[in-house]
Amino acid sequence: MDGCVVWFTGLSGSGKTTTASELLGLLRGAGVRAELLDGDELRKTICKDLGFSREGRLENIRRVAFVAELLARNGVVALVSAITPYREMREHARSAIGRRYIEVYVECPLEECERRDAKGLYAKARKNEIERFTGISDPYDVPESPDVVIRTQDFSVADNARTVLDFLRVHGWLPAHVEGCV
Ligand code: ADX
Repeated sequence: MDGCVVWFTGLSGSGKTTTASELLGLLRGAGVRAELLDGDELRKTICKDLGFSREGRLENIRRVAFVAELLARNGVVALVSAITPYREMREHARSAIGRRYIEVYVECPLEECERRDAKGLYAKARKNEIERFTGISDPYDVPESPDVVIRTQDFSVADNARTVLDFLRVHGWLPAHVEGCV
């Protein structure tokens, strides 16, 4: 079975990890081998040495793309949840992963992400306690040609996970034996 990489990009607090976790549950429940590579987790482990400068972020994404490609090549559906704010990084991920790369833009207005402020980071960024915070003091280039767009302000987590799952099914990324299960 061919694996793929489902790359969730969007602002901090937009719902990338929440949606990817929901999708992970659906996939595993149907017997699909799937893994979640979560930006926050990777930054505590294999990317622990990196900061949020342009170069630090690029290197972060290079490493994540490398691991995701390895998993996908070995038949796993690799879900990546990382802000991936610059166009250049997404181009790198697309070219490093090739045809297995599926980009999901997790769309949510900055005002809503800031209102949620699940980690309290927007408040700190507004007080200049965090440098180069995406959306506040560092750019987020809106994806120009994502494969899927999900809107977390208007749709439920379950609906959005289902939207991505349907995309995978329609494009032949799910093994035949699970088609009927999900
Ligand atoms: S990326 O830009 O390199 O793709 P990544 O997804 O790995 O970012 O990490 C983002 C997470 O790091 C955020 O969800 C937040 O918890 C934390 N973080 C800490 N500092 C920053 C910052 N300056 N900008 C964005 N996120 C930050």
